[in-house]
Amino acid sequence: MITLGIETSCDELGVAIIDWQKNKCWHILRSQIDLHAMYGGVVPEIAARDHVQHMPHLVQKLIDESISDVNKISHVAYTKGPGLIGALLTGGVFAASFAKARQVPMIGVNHLEAHIVMALMGQKIDLPAMILLTSGGHTMLMYMRQYGDYELLGATMDDAVGEAFDKVAKKMGLGYPGGPILEKMAKEGKPGVELPLPLKNRAGYDFSFSGLKTATIRQYEKLAQTRQSQCDIAYAFQETAFRSLVGVCKRALEKYPAKQLIISGGVSANKRLREVLSDQLEDITVVAPPLKLCTDNGLMIAYLGGLRYKSGQQDDHFSTTARWDVTELTPFEFTTEYESMDVVTVSE
Ligand code: KG4
Ligand code: ZN
Repeated sequence: MITLGIETSCDELGVAIIDWQKNKCWHILRSQIDLHAMYGGVVPEIAARDHVQHMPHLVQKLIDESISDVNKISHVAYTKGPGLIGALLTGGVFAASFAKARQVPMIGVNHLEAHIVMALMGQKIDLPAMILLTSGGHTMLMYMRQYGDYELLGATMDDAVGEAFDKVAKKMGLGYPGGPILEKMAKEGKPGVELPLPLKNRAGYDFSFSGLKTATIRQYEKLAQTRQSQCDIAYAFQETAFRSLVGVCKRALEKYPAKQLIISGGVSANKRLREVLSDQLEDITVVAPPLKLCTDNGLMIAYLGGLRYKSGQQDDHFSTTARWDVTELTPFEFTTEYESMDVVTVSE
């Protein structure tokens, strides 16, 4: 069985191939960061046009450098949603056309679930597990009793945590995406800047990052004359955001027991977040994707598409959807949960 996976939910074009018999996979990632940098955020029209322009030759290149023969592909997986509708359509139409022309099945998968399963490649986990999904569009805490069955415990009431990183960095004139830039600056920062802890003393498992974002920007406007003061602000912002994430996880774990916390989505690429969670959550193993596979990529789509295809799913008709809640998904059998994969990154 060989899966072709296509990710186009936002500004990354990810293409991947998994050979399940050989436990080997290949992937290409085309980032559009340079195209959107001058706008301080993703421009949906530009993202979709770039995907269309580059998809055919990147798929061809990946096939040439992996399995060599397009006939070996047994099915194609694409991101059905959630995401930017124009961007999603480009990948969906490509996958549907590929499936029709080559007479192979297709399967549309949920982008958020794909982030989650990316953390499970080659990892042994015990269910139930807690899941903290933190990306540019989402901040969600979920409880997974079986694969594909997610109970939503809490979510952000305003900005996603990655979005807050991006908006703070934009206001500070640091560029896009803000997460990796602020993480780097926070390493040089010192304690001293005071910021309010979101939803302090509030029960439940929801999050909020908009107030913290605004308070951080105010501190920047007041204090940030030097690079050192900017680093101190980045430090305070990151520490406060992560204190909030870890605090909610801790509270949820008291009521919903789990041995593992799965973290995924772009913000889980942050080493300090991994450190804070591992240090502060007792008796919990933090399970995460490799650093480079936390942000959007084609491999997560191929991996989830392959797992769901193996458990008997495929789509007769192509569709995409800008919104798609993970609680609407159906359980699936996770047949290769402990297999690690040999991952080859092919250059653009
Ligand atoms: O999962 P992702 O690639 O796309 C979405 O589905 O949203 O996540 C992108 C988000 C951006 O907001 C980016 O700033 C954030 O993940 N991010 C980080 C780091 N790397 C990416 N946030 C904090 N620290 C990082 N190292
Ligand atoms: Zn994502």
